[in-house]
Amino acid sequence: MRLGRISVSASSSLQQGPRHIAIVMDGNGRWAKQRFLPRLAGHKQGVNALRRCTQACAQRGVAVLTVFAFSSENWNRPVDEVSGLLELLALALSREVPQLRKDGVRVRFIGDRASLSAKVRDGLAQAEAATHHNTRLVLNVCFNYGGRWDIAQAASTLAARGEPITELSLNAAMALSDVPDPDLLIRTGGEMRLSNFLLWQAAYSELLFSDKLWPDFDEAALDAAIADYCARERRFGKTSEQILAAPLQPLPA
Ligand code: FPP
Repeated sequence: MRLGRISVSASSSLQQGPRHIAIVMDGNGRWAKQRFLPRLAGHKQGVNALRRCTQACAQRGVAVLTVFAFSSENWNRPVDEVSGLLELLALALSREVPQLRKDGVRVRFIGDRASLSAKVRDGLAQAEAATHHNTRLVLNVCFNYGGRWDIAQAASTLAARGEPITELSLNAAMALSDVPDPDLLIRTGGEMRLSNFLLWQAAYSELLFSDKLWPDFDEAALDAAIADYCARERRFGKTSEQILAAPLQPLPA
């Protein structure tokens, strides 16, 4: 199967399921607080949950998983938490990349790298280079990312090239232009908002809000979310009767 400019291996086990799942991994802090632990302990468990979810998505034939790890607004958190998250990122890269590489996962980082330190930028680039040949699952880690940043950077890219801004040209200049839009967007932690995640790409995503805190989001929760998605009718602006008469094909990448 070919998705945009990214090739992924064919999915045999999942015909009707989502090709692309996006997740706002919310609830790490509350998970830690419930256990009288520092917030960073929750983020560490969040990394474990992300590892589990990535493996589960690969096993279920999902082609693309996009997760929100650090938003443009997260810099406003207490200094200790921000530096802890940056250290956790470095640790996660050194620990997880060898296994991701073996598991056929291609990891990419989406977001504004300009304000990251050279050391962090190097770490991201090395992880991407080590896994760039993999085709089983694309894992997009949104780091220092915001949906508004993405739309603005796409518009300024076009303006710098002197190109007209249309829906098509803007789409092509966005960060995730080489994969299909998310079919299913999950937010854990009980909040029901997008928080500046994939504002452009989620236009037709099915939204699923889970009360589970991210560290508790396990394979069973993922399966329940996928089953919920599979039971929905996606109409993309058409009527139900039109869909029943000629079932929709997934939107082209
Ligand atoms: C939101 O929970 C979570 C984050 C801001 C960080 C998400 C990070 C991970 C899951 C770990 C992976 C991260 C790296 C660096 C690879 P919250 O802290 O807002 O939770 P709360 O709403 O309960 O306070």
